[in-house]
Amino acid sequence: MSQKRDPQDSCILVTGGAGFIGSHTVVELLEKDYQVVIVDDLSNASEKVLDRIDAIVGEERAARLSFYRADVGDRDALEAIFDDNQIDAVIHFAGYKAVGESVKKPIEYYGNNIGSTLALVDVMREHGCKSIIFSSSATVYGDPDSLPLTEASPKKACTNPYGWTKWMIEQILSDLHTADPEWNVVLLRYFNPIGAHPTGLMGEDPKGIPNNLLPYVAQVAVGKRESVHVFGSDYDTPDGTGVRDYIHVMDLASGHAAALAWMGGRTGVEIFNLGTGKGTSVLQIIEAFSSACGRELPYVLEPRRAGDVTANYADCSKARDEMGWEARFGIDEMCRDSWKWQSNNPNGYEG
Ligand code: UD1
Repeated sequence: MSQKRDPQDSCILVTGGAGFIGSHTVVELLEKDYQVVIVDDLSNASEKVLDRIDAIVGEERAARLSFYRADVGDRDALEAIFDDNQIDAVIHFAGYKAVGESVKKPIEYYGNNIGSTLALVDVMREHGCKSIIFSSSATVYGDPDSLPLTEASPKKACTNPYGWTKWMIEQILSDLHTADPEWNVVLLRYFNPIGAHPTGLMGEDPKGIPNNLLPYVAQVAVGKRESVHVFGSDYDTPDGTGVRDYIHVMDLASGHAAALAWMGGRTGVEIFNLGTGKGTSVLQIIEAFSSACGRELPYVLEPRRAGDVTANYADCSKARDEMGWEARFGIDEMCRDSWKWQSNNPNGYEG
């Protein structure tokens, strides 16, 4: 969207729009009157999320949503989508995201995440669409020298191929703008997204044993797993456990809408941290979730997990000053909404 347009006249392609962050962002965009096209191969998402989106936004807005089941790396499918729709901007979420798996399957991770991004931007270029928001991660900051992290903090070595794909795709998109200044690139570096839609209709639905803290805690709360394994209690933090900047997925969704509105009429490459600016420890999360679900959740202290950093949290003043965006929700609301989702849908979308 190098031209500024009203949401009603703008069509946004959301890759990975059936996933956790994607689906919440799609709801936010529809509620802001954008026309939305989802492309998702459902390799790590459920088609049922589409009915939930419709239920949340209502019939009229749902009519402005279309869905294509396709792999973003499938050029022919992408060409057809761009031929069928006048896409103004793309929000690119699609990608493999399991850190541990990425260490075991580097070829698949580099091939999929980078290959599909290259196919996407090539087809965008052919169709004259040069506005993209990329779903990046605080993982690109590596092990930080100082906190809070600002967008000017150095990018550092990642500890796994998943992280490197984020790192490299940021570089690829920046190079694209160097080669053709008409590109309009926004890199959103998420801290730790958790929570769920406050209706309890949408949330995170990991397959198998969750790798991330919150889905694991939620499964302990619902009785699917016995106790939380706390990875490391000897960190240099107030209670010895790892500290992260958790952000409600609803805030993340509104961050994407803010970025879309902000980027209209511009060109360039801009980076924004999306977090709350507050650090929360693993034990504080367990305590907050225990209050949300009304029962003390059991946990066991374990050794540190390889590749984890001691602490990270964001300075989000750039997003506030430039885009007028700020996180509205705190840990209690994040745990409340996660619990509502998990208790209403103990087996996720398939339940
Ligand atoms: C991880 C990834 C990050 C990715 C993000 C996606 C690494 C190094 N980072 O972030 O690149 O963008 O997921 O959501 O893997 N913990 C436990 N018990 C558990 C799980 C986690 O104690 O069962 C602890 C961890 O040690 C950490 C905190 O909880 O201190 C958060 O972990 P997690 O939810 O996995 O996120 P990150 O590791 O911060």
